[in-house]
Amino acid sequence: MSEKTIALVTGANKGIGQEIAAGLGALGWSVGIGARDEKRGEAAVEKLRAAGVDAFGVPLDVTDDASVAAAVALIEERAGRLDVLVNNAGVTGGLPQEPTLVDPATVRTAVETNVIGVIRVTNAMLPLLRRSASPRIVNMSSTVGSLTRQSTPGAETGPISAAYAPSKTFLNAVTVQYAKELSDTNILINAGCPGYCATDLNGFRGVRTPEQGAAIAIRLATLPDDGPTGGFFDDAGVVPW
Ligand SMILES: NC(=O)c1ccc[n+]([C@@H]2O[C@H](COP(=O)([O-])OP(=O)(O)OC[C@H]3O[C@@H](n4cnc5c(N)ncnc54)[C@H](OP(=O)(O)O)[C@@H]3O)[C@@H](O)[C@H]2O)c1
Repeated sequence: MSEKTIALVTGANKGIGQEIAAGLGALGWSVGIGARDEKRGEAAVEKLRAAGVDAFGVPLDVTDDASVAAAVALIEERAGRLDVLVNNAGVTGGLPQEPTLVDPATVRTAVETNVIGVIRVTNAMLPLLRRSASPRIVNMSSTVGSLTRQSTPGAETGPISAAYAPSKTFLNAVTVQYAKELSDTNILINAGCPGYCATDLNGFRGVRTPEQGAAIAIRLATLPDDGPTGGFFDDAGVVPW
């Protein structure tokens, strides 16, 4: 088994995911670059390696059982365990999404990737995570999924969203349930929000850099053994549910 800490970041071929991989790589970790498109994945691996990161490619579509099973086999073969899983891959389905007009297919796409994809990948990777001395799972959520924020007059809540924002609320709820089930293990699982970052996801309208957005994921990936689990955090601290 590798002496290095082994991490997997889903959707790491661009945006915040690539910066999470860069940040974890800078810690001296070996980082699996999850990417659903092989060419985009290879390009990201090359870029990260050129920057000194011990990166390896992991073809991975979070919506596809066979792809996820192959990713597990690849990491098993390479490292024999997984220390940190960052469930970063996400889609909006296109915004705005007025609830009264939304195509159910848009809702299905957001939930399939942002929620079911996280469950599929997490459950498949759990046997490898359980072999780690300090397993960490980070789910990249969003403050747009905070029902408290969404129902607070004047709060910054993003565009109207019947699919993307509720998918992150769902993801937060699922994170709490995982923490509940895993409470008697050494696995810490938390949700994090990167803030509004300039990436493809929002047509590069975000006001923070992807690197700034990666900071919360890196913090939650490197929590000490007595760190929190089942929480929702951004750079400013705890985010209300
Ligand atoms: N940007 C923000 O302001 C912001 C704010 C709050 C939360 N977030 C969250 O942060 C995470 C990263 O977002 P980002 O802004 O970096 O977006 P991004 O630049 O659009 O990157 C999204 C990544 O997810 C991948 N992906 C999408 N569907 C996938 C699937 N089925 N299987 C595997 N990978 C898939 C994309 O791959 P392709 O390149 O193949 O499309 C890409 O690598 C998301 O979960 C997002 O919801 C972002």
